[in-house]
Amino acid sequence: MTTPGTGTMRAVGFHEHGDIDRFELLTVPVPTIGPEEVLVEVRAAALNHQDLFAVRELDHYVPEYPFWGGGDMAGTVAAVGERVSGWETGDRVAVDPTITCGTCRFCRAGEQSMCENYEVFGEHRKGGFAEYAAVPAENLLSIPDEIPFETAAAAPMVTGTAWRALSTRAGLEPYEDLLVVGATGGVGHMAVQLAREVINVDTIYATTSTEEKAAFLSDLGVDHVIDYTDEEFSRRVWELTDKRGVDVAYNSVGGETWVPSMRALRPGGRLVTSGATAGPNPPTEIRLVFVRQLDVLGSTAHSATDLDRAIEFVWDGTAEPVVQETFDLDEYAAAFRTMADREAYGKLVFTLD
Ligand SMILES: NC(=O)c1ccc[n+]([C@@H]2O[C@H](COP(=O)([O-])OP(=O)(O)OC[C@H]3O[C@@H](n4cnc5c(N)ncnc54)[C@H](OP(=O)(O)O)[C@@H]3O)[C@@H](O)[C@H]2O)c1
Ligand SMILES: [Zn+2]
Repeated sequence: MTTPGTGTMRAVGFHEHGDIDRFELLTVPVPTIGPEEVLVEVRAAALNHQDLFAVRELDHYVPEYPFWGGGDMAGTVAAVGERVSGWETGDRVAVDPTITCGTCRFCRAGEQSMCENYEVFGEHRKGGFAEYAAVPAENLLSIPDEIPFETAAAAPMVTGTAWRALSTRAGLEPYEDLLVVGATGGVGHMAVQLAREVINVDTIYATTSTEEKAAFLSDLGVDHVIDYTDEEFSRRVWELTDKRGVDVAYNSVGGETWVPSMRALRPGGRLVTSGATAGPNPPTEIRLVFVRQLDVLGSTAHSATDLDRAIEFVWDGTAEPVVQETFDLDEYAAAFRTMADREAYGKLVFTLD
């Protein structure tokens, strides 16, 4: 059993910002824990696009170097702080990646992802790309016995984010049609599953860029997969809906997909975003917003209620983060390269013995 704050461990992180070639295998001290924290022995840690943003541009968030990311992790409790109750060494846990103060006006209103002191593992705090992580006990999620560590690690960020965007923010209804842009990614493929299996929407349209990824989306329950390298996707949605447009477009890609996502909407439709993978400052089309009377909705991560609700859909098997590939920690270069080159669909996960 490891004692917090003693000995060293392996981690995958960086000393300075740049591109993904800045990642290196580090030897660092095992973290200490506070009285309300636990030490998690990490068994799996999932990559998210935020891990690319962290090394490339989030220098204003990173508290100290070397820094290692990994907002999503799962493992076993290795040690508990003196004021922690309800958790014991050996418990199988996943981790809510968001850290909120609990006392600001937004936390008190149950809107934890609007917290005035909002932090995320992997951006503001060192995360799970390491053998051990110090985690507030209130962030722990108990994993059912039948759920493997890699699935549990892959779940919290993308499931909470997709659920909040579609259900809490966009208020997606069963009789509605949905377009998911960037559907093969971590968030996107959970959005497809939650829309299909939980909300039971009418028709799902989704965009992607290769035949292999298109097959993946069809298998997940997308009704109409549109390869945007073949045809302009808003025009295709317009044809497929007999010029009616979809009710909701979920777009976490931004960039040049932003205006076409508006064009794909019906009058009174909702465009919801929780990311800007391809660029945060695209041109916009204000006339579309007012002529079609669109709602543009922002969404970030999840409230405590969002995550409690959404993670149950993973634990009971209704939806499953698809682990496309696992990597040992020392295969970090291949893992980050696969994500950066957009070869991934579903989730990429580090596994540790
Ligand atoms: N606000 C929040 O709390 C929150 C939480 C989680 C994620 N996010 C954000 O949501 C976005 C998606 O995250 P993720 O972890 O799901 O990412 P991911 O797994 O890397 O997926 C991104 C997907 O976007 C598509 N894409 C289209 N154009 C792209 C481009 N120019 N560059 C890269 N990808 C492009 C790709 O699919 P195709 O090749 O099939 O088109 C890819 O599968 C990121 O911007 C992330 O920062 C925000
Ligand atoms: Zn707060």
